[in-house]
Amino acid sequence: MAYLNRTPSGATQPVTIGLIGSGWMGAFHAESIARRVPGAELAAIADPNVESATALASVLGASKVTADAADILADPEIDAVIIASPARFHSTLIAQAAAAGKHVFCEKPAGLGLDELDAALAAVEAAGVHFQVGFNRRYAADFQAAKKDLAAGTAGTPQLLRSLTRDPGTGSIPHAARVPAWTVFLETLIHDFDTLNWFNERAEPVEVYAIADALVEPGLRGQGFLDTAVVTIRYSNGAIAVAEASFSALYGYDIRGEVFGSKGMVQAGRATETVARRYTADGMSADTPRLNVELFRQAYTDELADFADAVRARRDGSSDDAAPSSAAYSLTPGGADARRALAMALACIESVKAGTPVRVNTAAVNTAAVNETAVL
Ligand SMILES: NC(=O)c1ccc[n+]([C@@H]2O[C@H](COP(=O)([O-])OP(=O)(O)OC[C@H]3O[C@@H](n4cnc5c(N)ncnc54)[C@H](O)[C@@H]3O)[C@@H](O)[C@H]2O)c1
Repeated sequence: MAYLNRTPSGATQPVTIGLIGSGWMGAFHAESIARRVPGAELAAIADPNVESATALASVLGASKVTADAADILADPEIDAVIIASPARFHSTLIAQAAAAGKHVFCEKPAGLGLDELDAALAAVEAAGVHFQVGFNRRYAADFQAAKKDLAAGTAGTPQLLRSLTRDPGTGSIPHAARVPAWTVFLETLIHDFDTLNWFNERAEPVEVYAIADALVEPGLRGQGFLDTAVVTIRYSNGAIAVAEASFSALYGYDIRGEVFGSKGMVQAGRATETVARRYTADGMSADTPRLNVELFRQAYTDELADFADAVRARRDGSSDDAAPSSAAYSLTPGGADARRALAMALACIESVKAGTPVRVNTAAVNTAAVNETAVL
């Protein structure tokens, strides 16, 4: 007796995905692929911690588990990879995956240095594979609504922009000693840099001035730990932006963005989970989101659905792999976006070290945009 076809003839084969790194973020992405992204299949998981990878695979029904990402890259049955290992492995894994012909979704940051990221993006280019970086805020409904307004000119010419990340916390950071150096810029504010760049799309970040400190864990200041930062950014169109981050907001996970321009203001994000308010004798209160996977549950799902659509389009030879055709604004964050935001984070590190403003190295990204507009 022969097997019945799992996929009816004429139906599209699912996009098969291998997960590389199955920790906090990887496990959530794995669950999204397995349960929330139609037309995608979680085929394999690679993590040196095979025990937890095996446990995750059995819950989600992934048939292949390995300690070594190379096994996934060599697997002809896998179309694409999601890279959610620690950041120090990202650019090497991107380059290896591209060389193996796999389409790549990589968590931010896509690398920790511009040279390594440029090499990875060159490998992506040479292989002709699709590349997307995990700037999930672009997929949050309110940020996308704001972007749509900005693209339509609602705020006019951008003059002042702001973006903030306040991670939920308890007022202390128990694992602080294990947080890699400069995480506040390379892994946290990098989201804000992308949001600001996306909101101020036709301009390039020219210069940053960053101040950072250990205000949540002052005892770790001497070891170079930083949990709080403010960055001012000058853009090539004259706009001035502020990005700020804290690793510990007692009231929950707080992500906001704003553009003020010649015609008005557009805002995205709010500190509260819903618009419901509770009024009692003690005053007014509202619930707040506590985790990134609560606030951005749908955005994390939608970024992977966008990725799967793009991979399917490439694999099956159909045309577009970018934003939905009805959208009049850019959406999918790619290599240039990953590099531009990383260049800002690296300039922030230099700024903190020097105590002065530092120019952003966007040379390899899009010098045309800088040249077109007046650089102050
Ligand atoms: N977009 C977001 O909102 C968001 C949120 C959290 C984390 N992240 C990013 O996701 C990435 C992972 O963060 P996390 O919090 O899940 O970390 P984590 O420490 O929870 O998980 C990392 C996993 O990678 C595994 N690993 C280590 N080396 C590996 C290798 N060479 N190949 C494969 N797997 C390897 C570890 O065993 C671990 O299971 C980071 O880049 C982080 O910045 C993004």
